[in-house]
Amino acid sequence: MATRSLLSISNLTTGDINRLIARSIELKKGKSSRLLSGKVLALLFEKPSLRTKVSFDVAMHQLGGHTIYLSQSEVGLGKREPIADVARVLSRYVNCITVRTFSQSLLEELAHHASVPVINALTDEEHPCQALADMQTIVEKKGKLKGVNIAYVGDGNNVAHSLMLAAALTGANFRIGYPGGYEPKAEIVARAKVFAAKNGGKIQLLHDPQEAVTGADIVYTDVWTSMGQEAESEVRRKVFAPYQVNQKMLTLAHKDVVFMHPLPAHAGEEIEAGLLDSPQSVVFDQAENRLHIQKAILEELLIN
Ligand code: NVA
Repeated sequence: MATRSLLSISNLTTGDINRLIARSIELKKGKSSRLLSGKVLALLFEKPSLRTKVSFDVAMHQLGGHTIYLSQSEVGLGKREPIADVARVLSRYVNCITVRTFSQSLLEELAHHASVPVINALTDEEHPCQALADMQTIVEKKGKLKGVNIAYVGDGNNVAHSLMLAAALTGANFRIGYPGGYEPKAEIVARAKVFAAKNGGKIQLLHDPQEAVTGADIVYTDVWTSMGQEAESEVRRKVFAPYQVNQKMLTLAHKDVVFMHPLPAHAGEEIEAGLLDSPQSVVFDQAENRLHIQKAILEELLIN
C-alpha cells in the first residue's frame, strides 16, 4: 500500500484498491492464510459497532492473530489520557490500532503519534473499510467498477464520502441525491472530482432523488441519522422523507439494479419495509465482504 495507515480512501491509489479487492476475493474463496500469527490488533471504539467489531475480530482470529477491544469508558481518549500518549503506549504493545471515533482530526492525531499502522473503522467523515467492501461487492455483481453508475440517495455523510472517493479512484460514476443543507463536504467533493477526472469517471451532486437514481446500476442509501446525531433525528426524519429508497424509486434505475446499504437499516425510514429481502438487495454480501477485505487490509499493513 502507498500508505502505512488507512485513515481515508484517499490514502489509497487505484492500484491499491484493485489489489485489495483481488486479494479479498481470493481469501473469500477459502485460500487460507495464517500470516498474522502472533500479531495483535487493538480495537479502540468510541461508538457502537456490530459488523466492524465482529469482522475485525474474526479476521484477526482466522489470520492467526489476536484482538483487544477497548471501549470509550476504558480509554477515555483525550479525556482520561492525551491522544498522543494513548497512541504511544498502544504502539509499544500492539501491531496495529483500529479506531472508531467522531472526529477525523482526532484519528489523524492518533495516527501521527502512533508508530504502528492505524485503521479508520469509521469517523464522522469517512468509513473506508465499508467503501472497500462495497467496491468488492460491485465487482462481484457487475464484473467491473469502471463506468458503473452508482447513485447514493440521502445524507452526505461518512459513508457517502468514502463511497464517492472510492468510485472516483476506480473510474465509476457517482451521483448523490441529497436535501439542501445535508451535502457532502466540499473539500471531499473537490478531491473526488480530481480523482474522477484522472480515472474517467463523473461526480454529480443533485437534489432530486429520482433524477439521481435514473439509469443507475447501483442504488445505495444509508441511515438518515448517523451515530452522534441522535438529537437531530426528528428533524431529519421530516427532511429526508422524500429520499426514502423504495421499489417505486428502483423502477427508475437500470433493470438489473443492485440495492446497497451499509447497515444498520431502518425500515420505514431510509428504506421501505421489505427492501433488504428484495431480489435486488446485496446488503448481506456487503456485510460479509467486510470480513474478507479487512483481512486483505490487515495483511498489507502488517506484513509489508
Ligand atoms: N452513517 C452511519 C454509518 C453506520 C455504519 C453512522 O455513522 O452511524
